[in-house]
Amino acid sequence: MTATYTQPEATEQGDVIIWVDDITKAFPTPDGSHLVLDGVSLEVRDGEVLALLGKSGSGKSTLLRCIAGLSYPTTGDVTLRGQPVTGPNPSTAMVFQTFALLPWLTVQQNVELGLEARSVASDERAERAARAIDLIGLDGFADAYPRELSGGMRQRVGFARALVTEPDVLLMDEPFSALDVLTAENLRSELIELLASDEFVIRAVVVVTHNIEEAVTLADRVVVLGSNPGKIKAGFPIDLPRPRVRTSDAFIGYLDRIYAILTRGGDSVGGEAGSSESDGRASQESVVDRAGNTSTIGHDRPLPVVTVDGIAGFADIMLAERDRSIANLAADLGLDIDDLFPLVDALELLGFAEVSNGRTHLTEEGARYAQAPIQEAKRQFAQAALAHAQLIRVMVSTLQRSASSRAKGAFFLDMLRRHHNEQHAQLQLVTAIDWGRYAELFEYDDRRDEFTLVAAQVS
Ligand SMILES: Nc1ncnc2c1ncn2[C@@H]1O[C@H](COP(=O)(O)OP(=O)(O)O)[C@@H](O)[C@H]1O
Ligand SMILES: [Mg+2]
Repeated sequence: MTATYTQPEATEQGDVIIWVDDITKAFPTPDGSHLVLDGVSLEVRDGEVLALLGKSGSGKSTLLRCIAGLSYPTTGDVTLRGQPVTGPNPSTAMVFQTFALLPWLTVQQNVELGLEARSVASDERAERAARAIDLIGLDGFADAYPRELSGGMRQRVGFARALVTEPDVLLMDEPFSALDVLTAENLRSELIELLASDEFVIRAVVVVTHNIEEAVTLADRVVVLGSNPGKIKAGFPIDLPRPRVRTSDAFIGYLDRIYAILTRGGDSVGGEAGSSESDGRASQESVVDRAGNTSTIGHDRPLPVVTVDGIAGFADIMLAERDRSIANLAADLGLDIDDLFPLVDALELLGFAEVSNGRTHLTEEGARYAQAPIQEAKRQFAQAALAHAQLIRVMVSTLQRSASSRAKGAFFLDMLRRHHNEQHAQLQLVTAIDWGRYAELFEYDDRRDEFTLVAAQVS
């Protein structure tokens, strides 16, 4: 990779593309704040692939989000090509562990979404998407729907969605970890080839991983993040020729070295230690933002973007809890608190949980829901959704008012677009489809983009 897609005419080491300058990140907690990143500095130079390694919870995703402009450091600065990062940057693309593909859009359309926010003419959008689809090995699948794809193919769509923007900087957060070993292996080596080819102009790559072998396979340089709070423990180049031979002594030497660093002491004990009170307000805002649910748009309270499986599973877990700190619970479950927030929010919205001061417990109804047999649980969910989830209520009453008990998805989408940006509108609809189907309130046919009222609801 280094040889081909890197090294412009710049300085010997290449220009600095990403500069993280002594950042800290603290999240507010009920009893103060939780210091997640502490004095992290790092540079990524032109042409470089940097792997960010660390245990779960060490702050890798947080750091990557700060680079992406999806979150902000509490103190310190992040700059991209000399410009302060103040929000999502069009020249940066992010690949996540899994992608929310829109079920009613084809692969081609899902990839074009990557360009949606930019004013790219529709024929150019189509052409660029087709090219990205081709490059990422999805040719032949352009007209397929996500449900027709395997997990590996879906992740390819996610890659294509990132690559279609022709980013300057590619950020990847554990992009292969949701795939089975062989699929991951395959996709990883294709990505290496792709980055090394002249097809893309990507100048810098940061890949977050907890997989040492992946880091040594991909990276020009590795940075190891220690936990509690996240601090850089070590950083060094991987000085191996490509393609890399995993059985070579030198390769294995790197594995040993990194393993030793990762398991070496130095992680301070007790995650609660951080008590920085600085700038609690800024981080509070970003928490609210990133939970995505706390803010209300118009008069509506948006649906928390979580699946019913998630809600049911979480209610089950909460059954065993009395009054839990949400941050604590997230840590116990090994979840990002970001993943937990919308679940808590969903239970609360449905009247299944109460939340105060960062703590939560199930209500009586919530406890009943968690213990009910499936049909009973569905009925209870349907009732709660109709009572408290405005979008579901509006959709059902629209369908009830339609003579045919049918309505087009596009109709609801237009309605949602009045209150949400495109991506949010789509996510609201996907979530409503999931909830409504489970509750047996309505059916959705994605080929026809059509909702149908379930018979029991026809009044
Ligand atoms: N929005 C948030 N609010 C509160 N705490 C958070 C938030 N996001 C992450 N954290 C906490 O920050 C720590 C690091 O999280 P993260 O960056 O996701 O780690 P990693 O990606 O290395 O697993 C964890 O303790 C996590 O609970
Ligand atoms: Mg993470």
